[in-house]
Amino acid sequence: MPSASPASDRWIVLKFGGTSVSRRHRWDTIGRLAKQRADENGARVLVVVSALSGVTNELTAIADGAADSAERVAKLEQRHREFLAELELDADAVLGERLAVLRNLLVDPRVASRALDWQAEVLGQGELLSSTLGAAYLRAQGLDFGWVDARHWLQASILPNQNAWAQRLSVSCNTAPDQDWRRAFAEQPNGLLLTQGFISRHADGGTAILGRGGSDTSAAYFGALLGAQRVEIWTDVPGMFSANPREVPDARLLTRLDYYEAQEIATTGAKVLHPRSIKPCRDAGVAMAILDTERPDLPGTSIDGNARTVPGVKAISRRNGIVLVSMEGIGMWQQVGFLADVFARFKKHGLSVDLIGSSETNVTVSLDPSENLVNTDVLAALSADLAEICRVKVIAPCTAITLVGRGMRSLLHKLSDVWAMFGRERVHLISQSSNDLNLTFVIDEADADGLLPVLHAALIESDAMPVEETSVFGPRWREIVGGVRRRGTPWWRARGERDALLSLARAGTPRYVYHLATVQARARALAAIPAIDRRFYAIKANSHPALLNAIVAEGFGLECVSQGELERVFAAVPALPVQNVLFTPSFAPRGEYAFALDKGVTVTLDNVEALKHWPELFRGRELWLRVDLGRGDGHHDKVKTGGKTSKFGLPLSRVEEFLAEARALDIRIVGLHAHLGSGVETAQHWRQVFDELGGIAEQIGTIQSIDIGGGLPIPYTEDDEPFDLEAWSAGLAEIKAAYPGYQLVIEPGRYLVAESGVLLTHVTQVVEKQGIRRVGADAGMNALMRPALYDAWHDVANLTRLDDTAEDVFDVVGPICESSDVFGKRRRLPAATAEGDVLLLADAGAYGYSMANTYNLRELPAEDVIGGDGNDGAAR
Ligand code: LLP
Repeated sequence: MPSASPASDRWIVLKFGGTSVSRRHRWDTIGRLAKQRADENGARVLVVVSALSGVTNELTAIADGAADSAERVAKLEQRHREFLAELELDADAVLGERLAVLRNLLVDPRVASRALDWQAEVLGQGELLSSTLGAAYLRAQGLDFGWVDARHWLQASILPNQNAWAQRLSVSCNTAPDQDWRRAFAEQPNGLLLTQGFISRHADGGTAILGRGGSDTSAAYFGALLGAQRVEIWTDVPGMFSANPREVPDARLLTRLDYYEAQEIATTGAKVLHPRSIKPCRDAGVAMAILDTERPDLPGTSIDGNARTVPGVKAISRRNGIVLVSMEGIGMWQQVGFLADVFARFKKHGLSVDLIGSSETNVTVSLDPSENLVNTDVLAALSADLAEICRVKVIAPCTAITLVGRGMRSLLHKLSDVWAMFGRERVHLISQSSNDLNLTFVIDEADADGLLPVLHAALIESDAMPVEETSVFGPRWREIVGGVRRRGTPWWRARGERDALLSLARAGTPRYVYHLATVQARARALAAIPAIDRRFYAIKANSHPALLNAIVAEGFGLECVSQGELERVFAAVPALPVQNVLFTPSFAPRGEYAFALDKGVTVTLDNVEALKHWPELFRGRELWLRVDLGRGDGHHDKVKTGGKTSKFGLPLSRVEEFLAEARALDIRIVGLHAHLGSGVETAQHWRQVFDELGGIAEQIGTIQSIDIGGGLPIPYTEDDEPFDLEAWSAGLAEIKAAYPGYQLVIEPGRYLVAESGVLLTHVTQVVEKQGIRRVGADAGMNALMRPALYDAWHDVANLTRLDDTAEDVFDVVGPICESSDVFGKRRRLPAATAEGDVLLLADAGAYGYSMANTYNLRELPAEDVIGGDGNDGAAR
């Protein structure tokens, strides 16, 4: 039994839609949730339900006078009887009377005229049936549920400009606070009550319908009238999202919104909550929540007036089928009443305008098909009328893309990437709402396909959508449905490793520390891929001798780009056969090629000019050829190494010329190579590269090896998924089967070493300046350039206080005299973070030390290696 007594005046309203009341286990959930809410909150619970799914559509057809109404009624009766059988209830005892009412409505004298009051009665039967059977079932489960006729309590109010249809079939209800009403309602004897959505009482005592979305609105009206603690809308999605999850799987659950933002999102996009239902709760100060019946443990979306104001884009949405009407009139602004004439013509055709854009000679408006009947006839008639006063052009179909959030105006500077994205499309109209809550772009519908996921990512990337605000943004849709793979706990969090790091830090910082076992694990994972014949490690990522040895011990060769790297390899791994060394330079001086050729390593060339200018150097040799496949890819523009603007690779248009030059010099081209960039996240990338190179190799005829480069990504952020080696491997196996005659070669760098390395640094100072707290480190962009150069993300942890919760927000900066000397903004670190603490920058094993420099005459960082498994053959 619920603990709240019937006398309690604290209420919680729960609303369940059609799919939530159509199955037996869903009613079990309703009963359980109602009881739980009552027990937890000491409140009484009012449950508002919709009709079983599909029933209202049937009733609408009957109310519209469908010829087969009798059949439809019979089917509805059968449907409800079957459901009662599933609920193990006696159909005649529970619904006999109600089903008779439904049947009688078909022989009612009002049928012929389809009187509005008759239509309202027909439409209301679905909720009366579902609530009656639900109450019977819940009582049978031992719950103290009372059944309430909503028409006794919700009074339709008549608005002056409403026509007779709207006054009966699309009504609003009075929700002015009324103590007598509240007292009378509370007098009902049961602790738990069940009532209908969608219906209310007309002034004449008959039924009046709330219109579409009516059940949400009913719950909101009851919530407002009862001054409820909360109105919970239970539905079949987990809440409102930052975009439609079906289109943007990375969309975030919005866990907390204020009424105005929620209203805007409900109006422009998400269909989970009817926009009409928000105002009654807002006016009465009643909190709302959207929750998922199948996943009741998720936080859902809370909507209330106390939500902390977080500026930023909360959601993007897309509405299709928008019609634009562009009106050109010469010198229109000089004409008094021009706009009045224009809008009078829209009114005449019953069209309500959504967005408006204007210039000196043009006014463009949009028509939303969900608000208007916009068919070709209406548009032709409108155009004809408008042609009397201006030149008219109808542009359709268009898509309206809307960004919703607080403070759109102050966000404009963050939207540059978004502008750039729209710059590629034709934007017909941009409109900003006067409440500063939305910004809408109208583009051709055809251009909108696939745009939302990219736009969503760009908004996050540019900080316009502040997803790090955990008070507003919850999990991604993909996480909720279980489609996300997570990176593992990093090695340095283990107690032993962390103590080892702290003691190394005492020897001085900045200091890189590499965890050999992590390098070995990555190397072994790559070595186990059957499709790959030869593996070279790109030592530019990290050329520490111990790492080179460990990687060679796993069967890798080494790839170098300079004489310095070659010399490092020969010194660190003297036993490495020269066939296992690859030289892939870019614009290197002649002497470095000579050095490499002299040593006997494999040399890759990527231009014709070298052959022309240094023929004697290459005559009679075997070489590999690096081509540019015409495009780049990678985590940042600066690491893309393909396409016209990139300095790397021979364009395909010059391959013939290169081969002719080579033949003349008796050179054999035995390898074909492409590396299009670093940190590539496109899973199909390598397989595609192999496919293209395979095609070229067939034409060259002398190729033995196809090198598809490196570029494998690692998960730097918590949201990044680990690279799917299995899928990668399967893709490579598949494409290799198409070109079985070639050795498949890879040359990754980052993947092998990035996660093995951390940069340790001591906190120098903690300083507050005008609201921003900064933690200073003794390592700066000289020690780790990636954040300054690529805006790259490296997790930052306070190793000294690793067990403290990281709850305060700091910018983490270095000691270099450059504004770009910032490791991370708005990072969470323990509140007590102070001078002398050891900070750790994670995943710094690749392109960390190898790109470090002595700018500002700061010394290079120190380096240490820990934690091999004894099978590494490392030279220390
Ligand atoms: N092969 C060639 C020809 C390369 O140019 C590179 C990297 C690799 C292989 C190895 O790529 P990886 O597997 O590491 O992505 N400093 C940048 C990365 C520059 C990569 C340069 N070339 C960063 O820190 O992200």
